[in-house]
Amino acid sequence: MNTMADVISLDRFRTAQRRGKPQPGTTIAFTGGKGGVGKSFVSANASVWMAKNELRTLTVDGDFSMADLNLLFGLAPERSVLDVLRGMPVENVLERAHGVDLLPGLNGNSMLANLDPAQAASIYVEIETLRDAYEATVIDAPTGLSDVGIEMCALASHVVLVLSPEPTSLADAYACLKALTARVGLDRAFVVVNRVDSASDAHDAFTRLEALVSRFLGVELCELPYIPADARAATACALGSPVLLQYPDAPSSRALVSMLTAVSSMAPSTFTHDAFVIPGPEDFTRPEAMEDVR
Ligand SMILES: Nc1ncnc2c1ncn2[C@@H]1O[C@H](COP(=O)(O)OP(=O)(O)OP(=O)(O)O)[C@@H](O)[C@H]1O
Ligand SMILES: [Mg+2]
Repeated sequence: MNTMADVISLDRFRTAQRRGKPQPGTTIAFTGGKGGVGKSFVSANASVWMAKNELRTLTVDGDFSMADLNLLFGLAPERSVLDVLRGMPVENVLERAHGVDLLPGLNGNSMLANLDPAQAASIYVEIETLRDAYEATVIDAPTGLSDVGIEMCALASHVVLVLSPEPTSLADAYACLKALTARVGLDRAFVVVNRVDSASDAHDAFTRLEALVSRFLGVELCELPYIPADARAATACALGSPVLLQYPDAPSSRALVSMLTAVSSMAPSTFTHDAFVIPGPEDFTRPEAMEDVR
């Protein structure tokens, strides 16, 4: 029998679906194998889109030691996740911008770049506890195969791989998916091709990645609407203001709304392993990727 809480939550879910809004409880992690493909750009805009949709939104700069979400939000935070590690209550570290609460990282901190598992776990516990107070969480995951990068994805309901159409980006996206499969058994992920000139270029990049993944990894990939290369996206980044707010009619803004509407109405990613049980040494070599993405 449904409780009153179930009925209210179902009602909110249906209302959100009707309006094409994100569903409360969504946690989206944006990840990718290659630096500079636009993970932080997309994370910043996803965050403000959640807030514009009246969801209480938490954004985590998961790139703890090379953090730059604060720049994209136009912030110069006084505190960071390093203060959380040193015992400061996480609520005191949050910075508010554009209707979003940001848990900032630090740029260029070697301690945060080399967290031991216990330190990393203590941060995850804080994030998990904190996000109970929010309706939507966005995680800007660090580039690549680090444990923190993978574990950040394992905290999410939706893992979105951001890539650009170059062969190196595809090879690195494949490597990232391979690590996520090996480490946490990722079964279903979302893919957005960013900074691309046309729908056919985006679809071609997705198809090449999907062919490789279905052959070697068996992860289900869901193609999201692409984001075009757009001078106003770069200008907004330089101004420290998300393009969705700065230039809502820009091509990249319209594409971001389509992409975010699509992903937040889709069934979540699935994982077959417990993220926090670390298996034996993994072999993350990827000769097949180098050969097949060209
Ligand atoms: N669709 C786009 N059109 C034009 N420029 C873009 C687009 N997306 C991102 N950029 C530009 O690319 C830059 C790099 O993006 P971003 O910092 O989000 O990459 P990243 O994947 O987070 O990099 P890193 O791995 O270093 O964290 C942005 O500052 C922005 O200027
Ligand atoms: Mg980044």
